[in-house]
Parts: sequence; C-alpha cells; structure tokens
Amino acid sequence: MMALEHARPASDYVVDLPEADDFELWRERARALVQCAVAPDRIAWVEPGGSGDLFAASAAQAGQGIPVPPADARLVRANRRFVSLARNAILHSDPGRFALLYRLLWRLQSTPGIMEDRADPDVRRVEELDKAVRRDSHKMHAFVRFRLVENADDEAREHYVAWFEPEHHILRANAGFFMRRFANMRWSILTPRGSLHWDGTTMSEGPPAQRSDAPGGDPMEDLWRGYYASIFNPARLKVGAMLKEMPKKYWKNMPEAALIPELVAGAQKRESAMVEKGALEFEERPATLAAIGKAIHACRKCPIGQLDNHAVMGEGPQDAALMIVGEQPGDQEDQAGRPFVGPAGQLLDAHLEKVGIDRRAAYVTNAVKHFKYVQRGKRRLHQNPGAKEIDTCRWWIESERAIVRPKLVLAMGASAARGLLGKTVSISRVRGQPIALEDGSELWVTAHPSYLLRLDGTAREEQARLFDADLAAVRARLSELA
Ligand code: URA
Repeated sequence: MMALEHARPASDYVVDLPEADDFELWRERARALVQCAVAPDRIAWVEPGGSGDLFAASAAQAGQGIPVPPADARLVRANRRFVSLARNAILHSDPGRFALLYRLLWRLQSTPGIMEDRADPDVRRVEELDKAVRRDSHKMHAFVRFRLVENADDEAREHYVAWFEPEHHILRANAGFFMRRFANMRWSILTPRGSLHWDGTTMSEGPPAQRSDAPGGDPMEDLWRGYYASIFNPARLKVGAMLKEMPKKYWKNMPEAALIPELVAGAQKRESAMVEKGALEFEERPATLAAIGKAIHACRKCPIGQLDNHAVMGEGPQDAALMIVGEQPGDQEDQAGRPFVGPAGQLLDAHLEKVGIDRRAAYVTNAVKHFKYVQRGKRRLHQNPGAKEIDTCRWWIESERAIVRPKLVLAMGASAARGLLGKTVSISRVRGQPIALEDGSELWVTAHPSYLLRLDGTAREEQARLFDADLAAVRARLSELA
C-alpha cells in the first residue's frame, strides 16, 4: 500500500484531535505517523478550541492529514514509562504537549533508553507536565465542594452541584474517582472545561459551564462549614502550609474557607482553652454510628483520605460487648465497603469460630478508616499507616467506642493498639492481659491476622497457637463480664 505521505507537501500533516484529553486517539495517530516516518517538525497538532496553526483551517475533519502506514510497517516502540507519563501529560493544558510527546516517541525509536535520561529537556518537560496534572487532580479531589440545589424538576432525590476550575484537562480522567466516592448521591461537577453529571447509575458529560451556573450558599454548605470548624485543629495551624496546599484561588469555591480568617484569629485562644482542658482534639462527636459513617466519607484530614478509596465504617450490633479493631481496610474491604472481608478477614473468622466467638455479635472496625496503598501497575499495594495518620483517625474509633460502649476491645496488631492507646506498644509485651481504658472498658491486644498470613511452617503454627490463646482469653473474660 502506498503511503499517502507522498501525496502531501513536506510539512503539512495536520492532525486534528477532537478531544483535548484523548490519549488513545493521539497514540493511534502518532503510531501511524511514526510508521510512515513523518518527522516531528512536519506535523501540526490541532486540538479543539486551540488556535492550531495555519494548516488547521484546511483540516475539515478529524484525522485528515493522517498517512496510512505501509502493510509491512515496523512496530512502534514505546516503553512503559513513556506510556504512563504520556497518558497523564496529555491532560496538561500546554498546547505544545502533543508535539512534545510525538518528538519523544519519535526519538524512542532510535534511542530506547531515552526515558531514563533525566537531563534530557524533552524528558524533563514531560515529567513536569505529568507532575502538574497530578497536582491538579489532587486539588480536585481535595477541594471540590458539593452544594445542595433546589429540585426544580420535582425529583425526589437531592441534587448536589459543585463548581471547580481545573488548570488542565483532568475532568474526565477524574470522573471515576467522584463516581466511586459519591456513588449514592446525585451530583454534577461544573467547570469551564466541561461538566460531569452522575445520577446514581449513569455518568454523562455536558458542555462547559460558568461560575454563575453553580449555586451559592445552602444547607450543605453549612454542613461542610460545621464539619470543617469541628475538625479545625489550632495546634496544627500553619498558615503558610495551608496557603500552599489550598491556594487562594480555590478559597472562593469552598464554603469552609469563609471561616478561615475567623478560625485563624481565634486559634490562639481556642488552643489555650483546649490545652487547659487537656484535650487537643475535635470539638463535637457525631451522635450516631450512621453520622460517623457519613462523616468519615468526607474526612480528608490526612493524605490517606485523598487517595482513590472509600471510607470503610465498622459494622456489628450497636450494643456489642466486644469490639474488634484491625488496622485499616485492605483492597477488598475498600471495594466491598465492609471491614475484614478479604483474606485476613477469612482467617480471623476461622480463628474466632475455633474458640467460640460469634463474629456477628461483635462490632468489627478499624483504627484507620481508609485504605492506604501505593499503585503498582493495576495493583494497589497495602501500606502501613503512619503514627500521625493513626492518631488523626483516633477521633473516629473513639467516636465509635463512645456509642457502642463495648466492655472489651480487642486490638489486632500494632496500628490497632496505637489507635486505642495513642502510643506505640510492643505486641509481645502486652498481649494476653487486660489494659484498663479510661472509660472503664478493657483493652486486649493480639497480633494481626495478616501477620499470620505472611508466615509459614512452624512459625505460622506457633503464631496461630498464640493467636488462639489470646482469643480464648478474650472469650473467657467476656463471659466473666457478661
Ligand atoms: N486488615 C485490617 O486491618 N482490616 C480490614 O478490614 C481488613 C484487613
């Protein structure tokens, strides 16, 4: 097959990209161009709304100007690092990004190791674009605020609308995050680059919006404000850091930001008052488990809450005598929205059954409410929460305890023990004996079932025996307390 390349003047390949964020289409077109040996400086990439270049006007349809690769064309080389950076960098608003990525792809054909050369200006630039896009997505996760709108269409379901101004083309790429996070809400996110609408089952896209299309103050705003005021910790107040994390640009869209000057002004006073009370913590606890369940979804007090995950609430009878506390939800728990349903949960169930503890009669929860992980390809690998993250989350476990009021709390693993005690203890030193908690209940500490899962052979048998012995002691103590 003859490449159409020869039919056109040397520098007039106009590649029309109908969507500014469509990596797959860019990749398809870039591959064809590389296979036809079209050098980077002979291509003009045109995106919607972009000024394009002189050739753009003559490109009437998407794809016009793309040469057809010969049937025996060589495969195009692109290593994993390039693809993962390019996928993200293409969302940047820099109009030169398509040409940059093509230039890199072109160079990769003859210099496969180029992506490892951090001094290369093209590699450096693509890394910068990737970083800026990730930062923009992070801001969107953290600063989108939904406001309740009146139901003009008489539908029973409440509709929440948020206004956000992304710097880059990140809206579509983040649709999944908001869909999973706010799955049961009907919501719209309006931006100057387009809008997203979720009705609980279907996601649809809409045109760009204006700030005036989004609502102003409303009860949801009050809820956010109340929540923010309650989590505002004057002891941690660092105005510089706050400004860096929450640039003023976003303040106008965030109802709680209206409180900032007031909170900052009152911080010193509040801090002394709190120190006097001996409690540097939040002010008012949610009164019901359902309220905790709702509030933890909005919690972004630590970086774990800003990952693409769900908060997992404890479950079990509200008057359970036994509360079992793990570390944090794992991948499966995050997806199921329930604690201890994955491999560690199955092992726990087997041991509980062996010693005669009915899991259904216990309240099962975690010290940390969100799944902390690092992404490795398609897998999300578990990461231990840090001491600060566990301490931040203590607010929730304490709130659960204040409602359930268990007679006995079983903490499994060092993170759970820290979540209950506020300090790190050695499991081998404290296991198998009660520790008095300030509300009169007893804390018992044992190993985490995941620890057993990581062992094998005699080490596993030995730890399983100790685990059973701890559980049996808990069961015996529960009978005494009944
Ligand atoms: N590990 C935990 O600590 N908690 C869970 O819910 C699951 C695994």
